[in-house]
Amino acid sequence: MSYQANFRVWRGDSSGGSLEPYQVEVNEGEVVLDIVHRLQATQAPDLAVRWNCKAGKCGSCSAEVNGRPRLLCMTRMSTLPADEPVTITPMRTFPVLRDLVTDVSFNYTKAREVPSFVPPPDLKPGQYRMQQEDVNRSQEFRKCIECFLCQNTCHVVRDHEENKPAFSGPRFLMRVAELDMHPLDAAAEGGLDRKRSAQEEHGLGMCNITKCCTEVCPEHIKITDNALIPLKERAVDRKYDPLVWLGSKILRR
Ligand code: SF4
Ligand code: F3S
Ligand code: FES
Repeated sequence: MSYQANFRVWRGDSSGGSLEPYQVEVNEGEVVLDIVHRLQATQAPDLAVRWNCKAGKCGSCSAEVNGRPRLLCMTRMSTLPADEPVTITPMRTFPVLRDLVTDVSFNYTKAREVPSFVPPPDLKPGQYRMQQEDVNRSQEFRKCIECFLCQNTCHVVRDHEENKPAFSGPRFLMRVAELDMHPLDAAAEGGLDRKRSAQEEHGLGMCNITKCCTEVCPEHIKITDNALIPLKERAVDRKYDPLVWLGSKILRR
């Protein structure tokens, strides 16, 4: 069954823009990205949108539909009210390049600030052994498709440009947590304390566990419960554990 639906699509660039009204045909089973493509094909050939896989796996088509952060390719038209206009806007936390495309380089900058896994110096590749539960824990975090919807949603940086230098956001705090929980990560032997850097360099303390990041994750990763809260607990344990405290005083002499 086809019907005509009303859309309001944000058009503009870094100097400003506005919501433009369009009427577009919708067919059964279509997703919002289908509508954007039909709009490009029939009425707005210069409409800018980023996409790649149309299967919820590349993380490119992130935007906001009726004010909610979504993947355009995974948002079925049938889940939206048919009798009301559908509003499509770019992600709000990142600077607009044009129309629905934002500059997400903030995230790449933050990614580079997390030092990668440090292999144990005495183990050769092929000799690494891990418990299955440790593998499973990492695998949940590795489902991340880097859509940056969590980064876009977190209130610490949404509408708070001033917090961006000090806060890496849920996606990259989750990366720090993954590495800190990795039983073979030997960063500490090289002097890198991931718990301390989570607090001092990535702004872990600014997260007040509102869980908005978890709610929008299209991979259903339990970012807050399984990464951020455990990382906070580990960082606090380290700070208040008298033995850890004493050890750090002695070692720092
Ligand atoms: Fe997207 Fe989820 Fe990864 Fe955040 S954690 S970037 S919401 S897939
Ligand atoms: Fe932000 Fe998620 Fe923490 S939304 S405040 S990073 S729980
Ligand atoms: Fe790849 Fe939507 S186009 S996730």
